Amino acid sequence: MATKILAETENILNESVIRRYLSENDRREMHLFDTIDSTNSFAKKLADEGKPHGTLVAADMQTNGRGRLGRSFCSPSGGNIYMSVIIRQDISIETSQLITSCIAVAVAKAVDKICKTKCDIKWVNDLFLNGKKICGILTESSVRFENRTLDYAVVGIGINLKSIKNSFPSELLETATSVEDETGKIPSRCRLIAEILKNIDAYIADMHNRKFMEEYRNRSFITGMDIEVVKYNSIRIAKAVGIDENAGLIVEYDNGEREVLNSGEARILKYNH
Ligand code: BTN
Repeated sequence: MATKILAETENILNESVIRRYLSENDRREMHLFDTIDSTNSFAKKLADEGKPHGTLVAADMQTNGRGRLGRSFCSPSGGNIYMSVIIRQDISIETSQLITSCIAVAVAKAVDKICKTKCDIKWVNDLFLNGKKICGILTESSVRFENRTLDYAVVGIGINLKSIKNSFPSELLETATSVEDETGKIPSRCRLIAEILKNIDAYIADMHNRKFMEEYRNRSFITGMDIEVVKYNSIRIAKAVGIDENAGLIVEYDNGEREVLNSGEARILKYNH
């Protein structure tokens, strides 16, 4: 019985339970909600008001969860993670482009540790388990143009922990999955949030030396695959041939021309592995 109550407490979003897994000196602000439109939108408002590095916004459910490239992000209630963290670092606009891939590694490590999984990364920052997406990350930033430095970034992380079989539209079930659907277990939501926060702090502080890139490449499964390069006004078939030192995707088109993609989308056409 005691185990069951503990498990239930761990899966309710609760500040003191999250803090149990953080260091005593961790004084970051936490803004937790049952329902919110989007944790990223709220975190951006807080960042604009000057809230510090590490501020956390998390919710049990989002009514307007936002994904990359203007898409929506399915965010039902009942146990998944929807969280956003404010990042403030004294770095150039160029270095800030590494945040997205650095966070992907930080989150993948946390998920693997707490959920006992082995997550892959699909460029640029989706986490996959057994060939399907379990986590999406949306990075939004504000820059100071006068000295070309980062003002702040908000990294928004959505992880499907609970089974999505009854809560996601059927067309998404072909490409998405959850930790419960893949492992049969539901990890502690508060513990995983705390682990992600610790990893984000450590990886972002160390980001400039690009050590995380080795792990990013090791987890990345797109290299060697046939893909569609999706841009605002075009779709082109290419082969993914590697990931450069800035986490850009190196692609080669049929005519032999090569290009490094730093944003946008690469849709996998054929699994060559
Ligand atoms: C993607 O896969 O396109 C990125 C999805 C990012 C979703 C997260 S959930 C928490 C945060 N709030 C949002 O509105 N979006 C991000």
